Amino acid sequence: MFVCLCHPFSDKTVKQHLDSKGKNCKSSVSETYSVCSGGEKPNCCQCLETLKDIVKTHNKTVTA
Ligand code: FES
Repeated sequence: MFVCLCHPFSDKTVKQHLDSKGKNCKSSVSETYSVCSGGEKPNCCQCLETLKDIVKTHNKTVTA
C-alpha cells in the first residue's frame, strides 16, 4: 500500500526503515518521511496522519 503519493513510497518501505532502527530507537514522522522519500519534504501532507500512526505504533514497541 502506498503511504505517500507525492513522493511515492509504501508502508513496506516505512516498516523497513523503522525495523532498521531496531527496538531501542524511536523515530519521528519528519525523519521517517525524509528517509522514505529520499530526502524530500511533504508536499500535500495528506499522508502524514497515516505515517504518524505507523511511527506511533513503532515507538510503542521501543523498549529503551
Ligand atoms: S501524499 Fe504524501 S505529501 Fe502528498
